[in-house]
Order: sequence, then C-alpha cells, then structure tokens
Amino acid sequence: MTEWILPAAFPNLAANTVHIWRASLEIDRETLGKYARVLSDEERARAERFVHERDRVSYIASHGFLRELLARYLDCRPEGLEFAAGAHGKPAISAPRPALGLSFNLSHAHGVGVAAIVRGREIGVDVEKIRPEFAGEEIAERYFSAAEIAELKQLPQEQRATAFFLCWTRKEAYVKALGEGLRFPLDRFSVSLTPGGPVQLLAGDAGRWGIRSFEAPTSAGMTHVGAVVCEGKDWTAKHLEWGEFEQRAAWEN
Ligand SMILES: CC(C)(COP(=O)(O)OP(=O)(O)OC[C@H]1O[C@@H](n2cnc3c(N)ncnc32)[C@H](O)[C@@H]1OP(=O)(O)O)[C@@H](O)C(=O)NCCC(=O)NCCS
Repeated sequence: MTEWILPAAFPNLAANTVHIWRASLEIDRETLGKYARVLSDEERARAERFVHERDRVSYIASHGFLRELLARYLDCRPEGLEFAAGAHGKPAISAPRPALGLSFNLSHAHGVGVAAIVRGREIGVDVEKIRPEFAGEEIAERYFSAAEIAELKQLPQEQRATAFFLCWTRKEAYVKALGEGLRFPLDRFSVSLTPGGPVQLLAGDAGRWGIRSFEAPTSAGMTHVGAVVCEGKDWTAKHLEWGEFEQRAAWEN
C-alpha cells in the first residue's frame, strides 16, 4: 500500500524527486469559494459550462488545489499563475517566469485530485477509481494492446478490475507525459498490469521514461489507483497529502 505523508512543513523538491500530491475534491463551501476566487476568468467560465454540479465542483476544487499548490513552490500568488497549453492541450506554467523549471501534470477522478510535480522533466499522471462495472473485456479490447489483453485474461477474476485500472492509469500517464493524450495510438505500446507485479512500460522510447503506480484510497474507503510516468529512471516518488496540510498551514499563518 502506498504511504501518503502529511508533511510538517512544505517539502523541498530535490532534483531527482517527483512530488505526488493527493487532495480530496470533496471540500466544504468555504474552501470551494476560496478556490473559485483564485481561478482565471477562463477557468471560471469553463467551470460554469459543466452541466452537472458535481463536475463543476470537481473542476473548481482540482484547479484551485493546483493553483494553491504551485504557488507554494513558486512563492507567488495562486491567482498570478498563468498556463499555456501545448500542441495537444497539455498545460505548462507560462507565468511567473522563470518558473524554476517546474513541470506538473494534473488528474482528477471521483472525488480525488492528484498533481505530480518535478523539475525540468516531462511528466504525466493519471488517477482512476477502481470500478468493476467499467472494467469489462469489451473496453479492454478497444483500448488495450494484444499483450495487455492476454495478461489480463490469464488473471483470476477477482484481480481483473484492479489489473484493468493499473493498465488504464499506466497507459494514460504515458500519453499524458508525451503530451499527446488520446490521439496517441494506445495499442502501439504496452504496460504490465498484474497486481503486485513489476511496473513496466514497453514502448519504442521506454528508455526515456520511469513509471510508478500508487494506490489512493479515500476516507469513504473507495479505492483509487494511479500512475506517474516521468522522464529519467533515476527519480523517486514522494506521496504527499494536501488537504489537512493546507488547513494546518492556514491556521499557522
Ligand atoms: C486530457 C486527457 C489527456 C486526460 O483526460 P482524463 O483522463 O479525462 O482526465 P485527467 O483528469 O486524468 O486529466 C485531465 C488533465 O490533464 C491535463 N491535460 C490536458 N490535456 C493534456 C495532454 N494533452 N497531455 C497531458 N495532460 C493534459 C489538464 O490539466 C487536464 O485537466 P482539466 O481537464 O481539468 O483541464 C484526455 O484528453 C485523454 O486524451 N485521455 C486519454 C483517455 C483514454 O483513452 N484513456 C485510455 C487509457 S487505456
């Protein structure tokens, strides 16, 4: 099980470390209001376009969390951050400049937000709730490679939902690290998926990347899994809790 640490002070980001922050997106109205105020006009407009209240709250909570978090690293105001999207929509920090070479990627799913932060490397992160009803063979056959489908099918039934989402998050973290997203052909590379087994990426440029998985259970007991793909093989991941840390920091100020 991944051990998530509630840091006593804001941690330094060493050169070969990836910080993986987890935040609950089920936040109180006061925090939601605070987060909404630090969003850009464009982000606020995007939040308003969601049809479902749940999606709007999740968007504001995850982007507010991201801004508050990045502002800590950059020692700036959260509303002062600006983002520019890459060719296929991957956001990067464009202001303040220089942003100390800070790279990040964000993922949010079913009440959990995860931000992965590193210096001077491309990075991608994905988190998903394990949903057995979604983890069927039809979806696997649509998105997974032949090697992944074969590995999935030889697992006992009770491991398949977890294996499915280990595969899904590893694949998505890779295409997000590339910045390509969904347009990248998902059958052109493979990841390992056996729960408890080695975490592997088999791709043409696999030598460029390191890959790690994590579990992120919520207070409601729902289990999420996630993955990070980051340039280099020499990095270690630190798993950090955001919510209570932020609250405590606010009390201390
Ligand atoms: C955005 C995308 C890359 C991820 O979408 P998702 O799983 O719905 O959402 P996540 O919560 O993990 O990530 C969304 C965040 O990634 C970031 N993002 C957007 N485009 C990105 C890109 N091209 N590359 C990396 N990150 C991107 C943004 O911060 C975005 O947040 P926002 O939507 O709130 O602005 C999506 O377009 C995509 O291509 N997904 C692949 C889905 C898929 O087929 N998976 C199958 C895996 S087997």
